[in-house]
Amino acid sequence: MTTQLQQTLLDWFAANGRDLPWRRTRDPYRVLVSEIMLQQTQVERVIPKYHAFLELFPSVVELAAAAPAEVIRAWQGLGYNRRAINLQRAAQAVVEAGYPADPSAFPSTPAGLRDLPGIGAYTAGAVACFAFERDVAFMDTNIRRVVRRLSVGPETVPPEPREAELLAHAERLVPPGQGWSWNQAIMELGATICTAAKPQCWRCPLREHCAAYQVWSTADSQVELLPQTPRRRKAAEVPFQQTNRYFRGRIVDALRAAPPQTALSLAELGPLVRPEWTSEWLPWLAKLVTGLANDGLVAWISQHGSELAHWSVALPE
Ligand code: ADE
Repeated sequence: MTTQLQQTLLDWFAANGRDLPWRRTRDPYRVLVSEIMLQQTQVERVIPKYHAFLELFPSVVELAAAAPAEVIRAWQGLGYNRRAINLQRAAQAVVEAGYPADPSAFPSTPAGLRDLPGIGAYTAGAVACFAFERDVAFMDTNIRRVVRRLSVGPETVPPEPREAELLAHAERLVPPGQGWSWNQAIMELGATICTAAKPQCWRCPLREHCAAYQVWSTADSQVELLPQTPRRRKAAEVPFQQTNRYFRGRIVDALRAAPPQTALSLAELGPLVRPEWTSEWLPWLAKLVTGLANDGLVAWISQHGSELAHWSVALPE
């Protein structure tokens, strides 16, 4: 049975959903690649990278066999490089389990997918749904926001529901047999209409069913209950360009920009990462590179002696 709410959103998505490349496939590898890329990156930015990545690594077999350096290079422009390594590790696990000779070696349930390295609850649910058409509920920021408003009310009205409560609402909403369309639709609504700061309720197909709209549309309660425009960064917060995440990205970028299989000494790498470089930064750089090496994003080529300046590092081949 499909409720009126469900049918309304499904009809809206059929008429208004964007034609995105990963919506045209059920190949679990392609769906996995798209979902990992989409996690921290905008759709428009992902589309060309998705096509280029699949040209280089057309199946899970090629990705599993590639040099990590190749995969990290293909990730350029997407950021959060650790995702590239996690994706390759998941591909390797699937191939080691016997895929594609044994198609069942690619897990098709959220629990099975979660057992792959680097795959969290969201990705596991999304792949089970978007590749294997399982009627499962899962949440990313868009889905969470839509479900919260629809089933609970405006996020400005306390108390904040627990994650388990929201997931229970999300599960109740999935129409049997139509989980694929439903989850794509609810994501689409969150990305295009039910946005964080300025929801466009006036053109939302679900407003008559929506707990938040009920409150927002009551004339005298509007102002204080509307979503708050994003707060300005607090003065105490560290600017991104001073964070370890930023410098980790700079290090990987510098190695990516070097010709393949080039190792750089820390003394060479330093000025590429910090314009104001002096050798006093060497211990700091060695520590960041060690962290990256532990994550599989770079490899130490030599670490002989106590002279940090001569230690050298490269992308992992
Ligand atoms: N973000 C994450 N998954 C997505 C999908 N399947 N379509 C559009 N945006 C997404």
